[in-house]
Amino acid sequence: MAKLAICGGKSLCGRNKKWATWPISDEKDAELVAKITRSNRWSFDGPVEWRFAEAFTKYQTAKYGLCCANGTVGIQIALEALGIGAYDEVIVPGMTWQATAAACIDVNAVPVLVDVEPDTWNLDLDAVEAAITKRTKAIIVVHLYGCMTDLDRLQRICRKHNLYLIEDCAHQHGSFWRGRGVGSFGDVSSWSFQESKVLSSGEGGFNMCKTKELFYKIYSLRNCGRSYPADPPVFGLNKAVGMETTLQSGNYRLTEWQAALLLGGLGRLDKQVKLRDANAQYLNAQLAEIPGILPMRRRKEVTQQSYFNFTFRLDPKELGIINTQFCAALNAELNTGDAWEIPYDPLNNCGLYKPLTKARHRLNGEYWKAINPRRFKLPVCEDANERSGVAVHHVALMNTKEDMDLIAAAVKKIVDNIQEVRSLNIGPQKKYQALSR
Ligand SMILES: Cc1ncc(COP(=O)(O)O)c(C=O)c1O
Repeated sequence: MAKLAICGGKSLCGRNKKWATWPISDEKDAELVAKITRSNRWSFDGPVEWRFAEAFTKYQTAKYGLCCANGTVGIQIALEALGIGAYDEVIVPGMTWQATAAACIDVNAVPVLVDVEPDTWNLDLDAVEAAITKRTKAIIVVHLYGCMTDLDRLQRICRKHNLYLIEDCAHQHGSFWRGRGVGSFGDVSSWSFQESKVLSSGEGGFNMCKTKELFYKIYSLRNCGRSYPADPPVFGLNKAVGMETTLQSGNYRLTEWQAALLLGGLGRLDKQVKLRDANAQYLNAQLAEIPGILPMRRRKEVTQQSYFNFTFRLDPKELGIINTQFCAALNAELNTGDAWEIPYDPLNNCGLYKPLTKARHRLNGEYWKAINPRRFKLPVCEDANERSGVAVHHVALMNTKEDMDLIAAAVKKIVDNIQEVRSLNIGPQKKYQALSR
């Protein structure tokens, strides 16, 4: 008789099992949203927006920060503020949400895709060094899922080669490296507040930066080129904004309603990050004891780890199965629908990253060739996506310790009965990228 739920056996938890859900809000958030609705201040540098901007910037230990429309334009604004444009090369990890690379193309730069470390899926810094050319202007580091690359070495590389560092922090609100917040290391950082993120307003974005000159540029870039009136910046406006500028740009502002949800979310963030971090470490300790299961690496310099996703790897050689089979078996045991998934598509073969489909990218033949993602070799990204990687949204870590025991027990049950999974013919899993999470 089959033991595993996917093969007709009894699942480890029944249909009535309640798992935590995301996003989270409370009555205070709803009250502030209603108050804004009744007021005549819905957008344009509103007081709630600046209150949030100041609090979030300080929480991440950065110097300057301000809201923008979403994490995609946040990266675009970061690149433009640093003067990166036509034909400049920008190093981007091959495993990330497509926006990290797409934003480079949208400023006519060339995203140079490099591979990631097998045990963190974050930038492989040897591959980064090998990819640097005379045209390289910047490196975008993505603090992916729930891991970090060696930020100290990365900063040394940037200094040595005179490159800008941009941090894509869309996954790690509340992460700290040696006690310093992510987002405070790069010349500019970019954040996303899209619904699934650990700090969310449905949609929304943010930039932090190191100097007031960059702050002024970013302000203008997100506000139709208008210039910021105060010197030094004061997290707000003490005069009318300038109506003339030398910087061409569009409208990438955020509304007061979004800021209200962000302010509420920020009040809960640190406690939630600590809960996820504690649960992840507790679960990882159990997973490490199961043959064929490889927890991700946590560097000793990480003083607080935020998780957009909790991830681990399979050893497909030892287990004789691949991640799509494993995820199907795990979802069946835990009654979690399709929550356990494969990680992002590698950007050299990603359903949502198709730069050669847009006429405005056809600057010339050389550029057209340079932005073709197929030219990059990304074996570690491919292996994680096609064989070894397993991922789940951070809300899985917002359950109880007993639930972490249940997850570990389900993984162990599958490994103990792995021969049942080997015979399963699972079709391609719904692609993770397609869910925009
Ligand atoms: C790593 C990464 N960068 C950038 C983005 C883009 O953010 P947004 O969806 O807010 O435009 C996302 C969001 O999905 C992301 O995961």
